[in-house]
Amino acid sequence: MMKNGNSHKGKVLVVDDEPNALRVLSAILAEEGYHITSSDNVDKAIAIIQQVDVDAVITDLKMPGKDGMDLFEHISENYPDIPVVFLTAYGTVESAVSAMTRGAFYYFIKPPDYMNLKGILARAIEQRRLKREVESLKLRLLDEGYRHRLIGNNPEIRRIFETIESIKESLTSVLIWGETGTGKELIARALHNSSSRKERPFVAVNCAAMPKELIEAELFGYEKGAFTGAFTRRTGKFEEAAEGIIFLDEIGELELSLQAKLLRVLQEREIERLGSNKKIKVNFRLISSTNRDLKKWVSEGRFREDLFYRINVIDIKVPSLRERKDDIPLLASSFINEFCLREKKELTVSADVLRLFQEYPWPGNVRQLKNIIERAVVLSQGKVITPSALPEEFMSVRKQKTMQNTVRTLKDLEMQALRDALHVCNGNKSKACRVLGISRKAFYKRLKDLYPTEQSQTLNSDVLTEYCPMVAKQRE
Ligand SMILES: Nc1ncnc2c1ncn2[C@@H]1O[C@H](COP(=O)(O)OP(=O)(O)OP(=O)(O)O)[C@@H](O)[C@H]1O
Ligand SMILES: [Mg+2]
Repeated sequence: MMKNGNSHKGKVLVVDDEPNALRVLSAILAEEGYHITSSDNVDKAIAIIQQVDVDAVITDLKMPGKDGMDLFEHISENYPDIPVVFLTAYGTVESAVSAMTRGAFYYFIKPPDYMNLKGILARAIEQRRLKREVESLKLRLLDEGYRHRLIGNNPEIRRIFETIESIKESLTSVLIWGETGTGKELIARALHNSSSRKERPFVAVNCAAMPKELIEAELFGYEKGAFTGAFTRRTGKFEEAAEGIIFLDEIGELELSLQAKLLRVLQEREIERLGSNKKIKVNFRLISSTNRDLKKWVSEGRFREDLFYRINVIDIKVPSLRERKDDIPLLASSFINEFCLREKKELTVSADVLRLFQEYPWPGNVRQLKNIIERAVVLSQGKVITPSALPEEFMSVRKQKTMQNTVRTLKDLEMQALRDALHVCNGNKSKACRVLGISRKAFYKRLKDLYPTEQSQTLNSDVLTEYCPMVAKQRE
């Protein structure tokens, strides 16, 4: 039974110049559950294919004007995955056979055996569906490859690549630490993807996202009835990660009691599900990440020291984007390519934008850069991403910078006043104090700041030449 208009077996275009043949075939296939569109000539058929997402075409071979071969050629050139089935009169079998050798799906001599035709049609449509599925899987794999690609050329990032290479097959625990958005999870996944365990699970648990009780249930699993709401048995993440990797994201947020439990798991390599005291062996590699200063937390008693050393056998420190500004152009252009592909646009980035990127402090690191580029790609109309596609805060960074360059400190202004006064008073310090309206003591104190190496309170000739050229000349 058809529930709605979409649950038909497929959309079939039937083409035949004989109205009766067209009507009969269309009716039979519609009854079978196909969605039928029909045409009595090739041009109209081509127009339909352009508009409707057709799953298969059944066409008569001999028609006045353009014939079935013309239609087939058009389809195999423009829509190579749409299967074409020919209907042919006895005399034209040969051309149908030649079409088969060029990729037509099947041919029938008229009048066709309808049972057989239905079977062939079902197979054609199924084959097309599979082809499409393979294509989309391929695309997805490509996409995954993209997502796990760590981009960077900065020496510190290159050191991380080397570390990944050298530890990928080991089972030791790894702690990845760095600010938010620096790519900690990406590194963990890269470590998994490059190891021979990559077919094994990669199980990520965010320790900050859930309350303590839920995390415990999530990590260890539970037996039916272990607590209210435990209606069925559930395996935990440690068990799920068998032979693979468990990634504890934001491990610093684990409460002390759970830290103790985790330590026990790491020491004994076995767990107990909640509501059971049966010990289950678990084998996993632990990768943890944190954006906290865990060493400091240890000293403050917020993180267990013994656990810290267990999870931190190898540590990977990920630099902030501010510390690797040399990678910004590389990251930016790679994100632009990625989003242009998705948005079907062709864009480059202007030098102005790259300059602003260099000045900006990037509190959200690579994630923020990626988001800003996504936004800019979506917003940009022409061929170039200009500063107008950036959020307001980039403009204020620029303004602040210019302010910093033009506004001077009070000390600078004071010193300038001192120089001016000396200049105006031809180096006479008593006069200069009066002009400035400050005491001699204050004057000499500032003078010392201005010329710290000047021991005596008289000005030497170099200083004079610089600030009081007239006096210097007189003294010569
Ligand atoms: N070196 C890099 N190359 C390409 N993309 C990167 C890189 N570093 C980070 N990214 C991208 O930035 C985003 C944030 O990365 P990720 O989630 O790994 O950061 P994180 O350090 O785990 O952040 P948080 O501390 O907030 O959990 C992701 O979209 C990731 O793909
Ligand atoms: Mg993360």
